[in-house]
Amino acid sequence: MIAKSFLGTATAALALVLGLGQAEPINRLRGRADLEDFIAAQSDISIAGVLANIGADGSKAPGVPPGVVVASPSRSDPDYWYTWTRDAALTYKALVERFIAGDSSLQRKIDEYVSAQAQLQQLDNPSGAARGAGLGEPKFLVDLTQFTGSWGRPQRDGPPLRATALILYANWLIQNGQRDKAAQQVWPVISLDLAYTVRFWNSTGYDLWEEVNGSSFFTIAASHRALVEGAALAAELGQTCDGCASNAPRVLCFAQSFWVGSYIDSNINVNDGRTGLDANSLLSSLHTFDPEANCTDATFQPCSARALSNHKAVVDSFRAEYAINRGIPQGRAPAIGRYNEDVYYNGNPWYLTTLAAAEQLYSAVYQWDRIGSITVNQLSLPFFRDLVPSVSTGTYASGSSTYNSLVNAVRTYADDFIAKVQQYTPSNGALAEQYDRNTGAPLSARDLTWSYAAFLTAIERRNGTVPPTWGEGSANTVPSVCTGTPSCNSRITFNVRVTTVPGEDIYVVGGLTQLGNWSPSNGVALSASRYTANDPLWYVEVNIPAETAFEYKYIKVRGNTVSWESDPNRRYTTSQGCSSSGTVNDVWR
Ligand SMILES: *[C@@H]1O[C@H](CO)[C@@H](O)[C@H](O)[C@H]1NC(C)=O
Ligand SMILES: *[C@@H]1O[C@H](CO)[C@@H](O)[C@H](O)[C@H]1NC(C)=O
Ligand SMILES: *[C@@H]1O[C@H](CO)[C@@H](O)[C@H](O)[C@H]1NC(C)=O
Ligand SMILES: *[C@@H]1O[C@H](CO)[C@@H](O)[C@H](O)[C@H]1NC(C)=O
Repeated sequence: MIAKSFLGTATAALALVLGLGQAEPINRLRGRADLEDFIAAQSDISIAGVLANIGADGSKAPGVPPGVVVASPSRSDPDYWYTWTRDAALTYKALVERFIAGDSSLQRKIDEYVSAQAQLQQLDNPSGAARGAGLGEPKFLVDLTQFTGSWGRPQRDGPPLRATALILYANWLIQNGQRDKAAQQVWPVISLDLAYTVRFWNSTGYDLWEEVNGSSFFTIAASHRALVEGAALAAELGQTCDGCASNAPRVLCFAQSFWVGSYIDSNINVNDGRTGLDANSLLSSLHTFDPEANCTDATFQPCSARALSNHKAVVDSFRAEYAINRGIPQGRAPAIGRYNEDVYYNGNPWYLTTLAAAEQLYSAVYQWDRIGSITVNQLSLPFFRDLVPSVSTGTYASGSSTYNSLVNAVRTYADDFIAKVQQYTPSNGALAEQYDRNTGAPLSARDLTWSYAAFLTAIERRNGTVPPTWGEGSANTVPSVCTGTPSCNSRITFNVRVTTVPGEDIYVVGGLTQLGNWSPSNGVALSASRYTANDPLWYVEVNIPAETAFEYKYIKVRGNTVSWESDPNRRYTTSQGCSSSGTVNDVWR
């Protein structure tokens, strides 16, 4: 390992002396063969590493129920013996993609994931009620019970990420003659996650690193994708997906506010004292990569000028950050962490973020090859100039020499990030969470499931294996004016049977703004339009925030005289769905 890194530095220095932007070709060829061997071996180790951490038969997940992904077998320093909704969804997204690409051995594990998630959705937990706000709970105990310790919650990326993993599977089932299974077993789980996304995309929550309570680009990007493909799946299955289609453009509109001119500010609506340069944004472009998309800036596609400019900004932010990055010139890959201000384990590079820097570039190469050209504009020029210093703005058709030199340079640069991972991976291929900023030694949780999954997806893109489209092409138009989500209400009908005489009116009052906060003069008047001698019904419909518990009473008003019902207060809790409805049938007391 030492010899190899010495060679790398010497090669880079030679390249600079010779005035080349890249490494010297003969060494590159030798390095390439070595890299191919590493990739082949590490691909096998990585799929085995993922499966080892999934119950019930994973060798490193003893006693864990079927389909449950353990974040890492590490039970102390740090204790990752939990199942995170995000990590599990990203892991299963990779497994479902692999299944679709032909690995049929994975289907049982995927079915087990569907069942395990259906069970988790039924748990009340510290983030809120089962099937409602509780879906934003970030992690659970591995035996599928709630974790009640303090934590950065809620985290709103879990539901849309899980929806995406399951939508990929449901679409495959439909295309393979199993529509009923998609509708009856998978859609119910997806549908709850989409309802959550519709309801909460415009609320703050914790980011994917579980530290910042604000609006996270990753969460918003994941929400947009899930709503777009969720609306399409609902239509395909003849199901409803309330608010999915109408909120998707709103989410896309909001996503634009993270763009700050040359990069993505990963966390907004929060005063976090950071630059916002964060691998959060690289991971977002991987997640929303659509192989059929153009290089759309609005959806930050991997090959878009925005995502490339952001790639350079994020990567450059780590060049001076770690001792192990010293002396690595522009155009060569440094080790990548989460964000500069990171202090977790003193702030180190991570395997999955270094792999993300590679995966974005492989995905971009796939897109240029499919589109048949590459465009360099003012925004992406600095990114390309690091790799090919002589390039200027323009569109270059595939087959042209400029196209070839650009695409080859980007691919070589991507390989260089993989070579970084190779350099700091121990010989048994075990991928921890981090590697030391000074020595490169593996650090923090061992055998991190997400690290292995990140290796698999990066190399699949390198191999030209891509997921199905999620419909980016029909969902990339940004509305001219951004709107938030309307508040999520439940429409409650209050029915009360009460005999009255002419001149008397009935009101409902209670402990909510919508019910006048117990002030009789601000109560809500009921209607007697259906009142008869046989059925003395007074009624009214009121919009009340969903999933809200409140107390109320009826009052009888005649002139200035108010008479209250007897104690105790009545209680009601609205249901969790936006635009849901409910009815209370009371008798005056
Ligand atoms: C990528 O392709 C190589 C060479 O065919 C193969 O050994 C490796 O397993 C593949 N990796 C993945 C993750 O698909
Ligand atoms: C809600 O959406 C509006 C419109 O895009 C945006 O200005 C606002 O910052 C968003 N707030 C949150 C918390 O998402
Ligand atoms: C997160 O921030 C919002 C304001 O943006 C605040 O209302 C909420 O209470 C905060 N959540 C936590 C858990 O601190
Ligand atoms: C990509 O751009 C071409 C040319 O403008 C257009 O015809 C095509 O529909 C676009 N594809 C997508 C998926 O947006």
